[in-house]
Amino acid sequence: MGGASTVAALAGGTFGLNLVRAAPANAAAHRNRRIPFGACVNVGPLQKDAEYRAAFVAYCQQLVPEGGMYWYDLRPNRDQFNFGIADTILTFADANEMPMRGHTLVWYGAMPEWTKQISSAAEAERELTLHIERVVSRYRGKIRTWHVVNEPIDDPVAGKPVGLRPSVWLQNLGSKHIDLAFRLAHQVDPSAELLLNEFGVESAGADAEAKRQALLALVRDLLARGAPLHGVGLQGHLPGKVEIDRDRLSQLVSEFRSLGLSVHVTEFDVADDELPASPAVRDAIVAARAYDLLEAVFAATRPAAVFTWGITDRYTWIPMWHKRADGLINRPLPLDQNYRPKPLWSVIDYFCGQTG
Ligand code: G3I
Repeated sequence: MGGASTVAALAGGTFGLNLVRAAPANAAAHRNRRIPFGACVNVGPLQKDAEYRAAFVAYCQQLVPEGGMYWYDLRPNRDQFNFGIADTILTFADANEMPMRGHTLVWYGAMPEWTKQISSAAEAERELTLHIERVVSRYRGKIRTWHVVNEPIDDPVAGKPVGLRPSVWLQNLGSKHIDLAFRLAHQVDPSAELLLNEFGVESAGADAEAKRQALLALVRDLLARGAPLHGVGLQGHLPGKVEIDRDRLSQLVSEFRSLGLSVHVTEFDVADDELPASPAVRDAIVAARAYDLLEAVFAATRPAAVFTWGITDRYTWIPMWHKRADGLINRPLPLDQNYRPKPLWSVIDYFCGQTG
């Protein structure tokens, strides 16, 4: 998919990148050494759009649910667990022999109303423990990788130290809720790979730099305290207008690797609301952002996986927050709204195909 023709078109086209590579002598061995590519799956289109299902089968080696494992999906009420959406997506993943990741156990967002009533450390610890025990044990042996803690670092404010993002967990338990979540998940499924997942650390600029430092400090603290943290997810939700800071991103990835952690790209897409209207220009910029990001990561290590946050421009969260003023549809993902591969796909295919 994508293959030599689109790569050649890209190489000869907008970028002038030399991405064309000779076919490997042993195609099967080459395939097996590819870095797995995946995307998030939304249950709505999964159930009604055959082309959507076919796209995952054609392009992906692994999946993650877009929704279904958020607290407001799993626990609409305090005493009710609803695994319906997560199970539906897992059934699709299993049927197509694609591992599915867990997303996510601890996040400030997508919380049900009732969690606002949590008002003490004991109550917070009780609910978090119940949640992680129920959810991780249900999928033990099926979900091999968990985004345990999602987006723990707060948005930087100039002149202030970067702290942890407010949440019901931080409010009631302080920073130890992060350690607790990793320890609980590890206790319930000792063989699962446990990740901390964060955004806003890839781009140039003071905010991203502050966030890089805060993330590295948090990771070091967690490891020093013995938390069973195995890897870091760099989400890769990128602002379209800002370049990647390739040197600093490479250094950050090297730091994580030297701490013994795996590194994953977990949610790549590009907010293209402020990019030029021309689809070709926008697609080129989106592909260039991916190229810079992946090149910086690969300069430090082979990532364990590369994910985009969705597979097709037809279904993406981007317009919820980044709708274009000119009414044109957003183009953040590897396939366009008619499931045709875009230059972004060629970039992903090129990097994931590197056998190192
Ligand atoms: O489908 C329901 C619909 O049935 C319901 O009537 C309607 C009313 O609320 O909501 C619809 O669900 C929405 C869902 O997206 C549809 O996919 C939810 O409201 C909306 O909150 C939900 O947003 C998700 C968001 O996380 C939650 O804050 C996005 O899909 C999802 O892409 C986004 O993903 C996050 C990652 O988890 C973490 N990193 C950032 C990323 C993007 O924000």
